[in-house]
Amino acid sequence: MFKIRVVTILLLMFFNIFCEATASLSESEENKLDHEDPQSNFFLWQDDNGNIREENLTKKPESFTAQTSDVNLYFYSKSNPNEPVVLNVLDVNKVIKTKFNSSKECLFIVHGWLNNYSSPVNVMIKGAVLEKYDVNVFVVDWSAISKNGYIECVANIERIGKFIGHFINNLSKKYNYPLSKIKMVGHSLGAHIAGVAGKTTNGQLKYIIGLDPAGPLFTIVITKNRLNKGDARYVEVIHTTASLSFHSPIGNGDYYPNGGVLQPGCVLSHDRSLSCSHSRAYELYAESVSVGSFVSTRCGLDATYELGLCANNDKSQMGGFVFADKPDGKFYLKTSGTPPFALGN
Ligand SMILES: *[C@@H]1O[C@H](CO)[C@@H](O)[C@H](O)[C@H]1NC(C)=O
Ligand SMILES: *[C@@H]1O[C@H](CO)[C@@H](O)[C@H](O)[C@H]1NC(C)=O
Ligand SMILES: *[C@@H]1O[C@H](CO)[C@@H](O)[C@H](O)[C@H]1NC(C)=O
Ligand SMILES: *[C@@H]1O[C@H](CO)[C@@H](O)[C@H](O)[C@H]1NC(C)=O
Repeated sequence: MFKIRVVTILLLMFFNIFCEATASLSESEENKLDHEDPQSNFFLWQDDNGNIREENLTKKPESFTAQTSDVNLYFYSKSNPNEPVVLNVLDVNKVIKTKFNSSKECLFIVHGWLNNYSSPVNVMIKGAVLEKYDVNVFVVDWSAISKNGYIECVANIERIGKFIGHFINNLSKKYNYPLSKIKMVGHSLGAHIAGVAGKTTNGQLKYIIGLDPAGPLFTIVITKNRLNKGDARYVEVIHTTASLSFHSPIGNGDYYPNGGVLQPGCVLSHDRSLSCSHSRAYELYAESVSVGSFVSTRCGLDATYELGLCANNDKSQMGGFVFADKPDGKFYLKTSGTPPFALGN
């Protein structure tokens, strides 16, 4: 079965990257790439340190429950871009000890599985944002949980998301700070944590950007433990790795760089190409904050986009930090396989 899956992925990769002119994937076939496919009962993963892990998705999860002590917040600002002030998620009264400025906007960044506050996703996005914008940044660290098995992490997403949502609600009350000044970006499982935090604030955050939201063990039908349209005033999703994430649109705006199946420059061995494509989502987002120019074209299907049939449709910019009134819908774009990724127009 695994071989079949690898072959499928290689074929899709081939289809996506090299077959610019053949087009026959229907929307429902595209959506089959979602990991809701019950046959996918495990996946291979290369972590940031190059170790390969095999996660069996059908094994019985160890039962453990995330506590508030497992979730910390690393506060950064223009005056302390590299020396965080560390708070627990219950320490809303200690925010006063940071450079938190309630007249400025706020960004929460939420990492994924096996990551922590110092992982590339946080370093890159925090760096890109603070370089250009004078805002409050909270990097969420849930590594006490994220270092465990994938199944155990999935089982705790709702609890962790609610802890953060409660922190935000309390922060908002204490500082009379409007929820509409708060933005969130989450990668992989972190996208779903951001989604739950957003639900906990009644969808009133300015926006949530989900970077390749994790697919395995999540479903289209059950929305309480995952990122969904409605979790913020605007939800954007950047899809980079169909077989590890949600390929179906789940936001207001859904962006598919290079078709969203696998990314150029990531055509490596199977497990490495998936991890590489999955990480590409935050690399693209960080660049969209510092440079921009990810012009994307509205289109219903990658195949149609590839054929040039959507060329005259309206355009939108993927990602970015400051934006207003982005359109809803599915958007496609090409990128380079190495930085700078944006190809502009
Ligand atoms: C996954 O775990 C289940 C239950 O422990 C076991 O039956 C199955 O063989 C495992 N699958 C793989 C691919 O290791
Ligand atoms: C924050 O909010 C939660 C839920 O509304 C509450 O239980 C908690 O005591 C509040 N206070 C702090 C300091 O987090
Ligand atoms: C907070 O930010 C505002 C606007 O940039 C600034 O005028 C004010 O001095 C800042 N407050 C503190 C305590 O730094
Ligand atoms: C944080 O995660 C990175 C991988 O993203 C790892 O290399 C590093 O050792 C971790 N640091 C801590 C303090 O756990």
